[in-house]
Amino acid sequence: MERKKITVPELIQKKKTGEKISMLTAYDYPTARVMERVGVDSVLVGDSLGMVVLGYDSTVPVTMDEMLHHIKAVRRGIKNPLLIGDMPFMSYQVSARQAVANAGRMMKEGGCDCVKLEGGVEVTPQVKAITDAGIPVCAHIGLTPQSVASLGGYKVQGKDLGGAQKLIDDAGALYEAGARLIVFECIPSALAAAITKNTPLVTIGIGAGPDCDGQVLVIHDLVGLAERNPPKMARQYVNLFPQLEQAVSSYAQEVRSAAFPAPEHGFAMDQAVVDQLKF
Ligand code: KIV
Repeated sequence: MERKKITVPELIQKKKTGEKISMLTAYDYPTARVMERVGVDSVLVGDSLGMVVLGYDSTVPVTMDEMLHHIKAVRRGIKNPLLIGDMPFMSYQVSARQAVANAGRMMKEGGCDCVKLEGGVEVTPQVKAITDAGIPVCAHIGLTPQSVASLGGYKVQGKDLGGAQKLIDDAGALYEAGARLIVFECIPSALAAAITKNTPLVTIGIGAGPDCDGQVLVIHDLVGLAERNPPKMARQYVNLFPQLEQAVSSYAQEVRSAAFPAPEHGFAMDQAVVDQLKF
């Protein structure tokens, strides 16, 4: 089926017509190919990279160079989905100038269509500077993993009146600053539904209920590619980790017992040539 390139205006149009938006994370070429073939609307190279692929304890250590390395691989694998690059910790917090420079790298070197950054009112100067430079921005509020130290852990946000009002105000300020997409991570479903109804921002939820304009999940949670159980907000569609473990174990056993490789895995040579070899 012929598909067309997804753009930010197209996602805004989907919000208007009520067509739900599918977004998933990817960090490598083969996963990106699957997403291109299936036709997901948007692929996010999240800084979750640090935890699910690079083995860090949090997203805090992830660098711009690590992000770009993986964004480039994903870019080679997709043509149509909107490619969003996640700005890692300390690649935009220092100043609007730093934010524009690094968002520019995401676009020029990584081939991104949009950049994502975490935070509310406090990052609006960065959002304004990036969008003024012609780069689309996806905001991210609620549970913002880069601030896990100040949030005091991976907790649901916006459950009380003050917290909920802050998220509403953040969303409004981020739209005014130029963001057109926003991720809601781990906020109550009723709050996500109410903001979605009252904002022109395209809202993408993860642990934010069914009434956002779209949903995003970390691909490793969806396919069970982790030793731990998937988090509460994810649905695991297949559990690959034990299957991979089984395959690797069978290979190792067969190498030890010489059951692998079999004759059909090798390459033939004339016996006459073999006979002439000198040692
Ligand atoms: O880094 C990431 O994968 C994300 C998603 C969870 C939205 O920010």
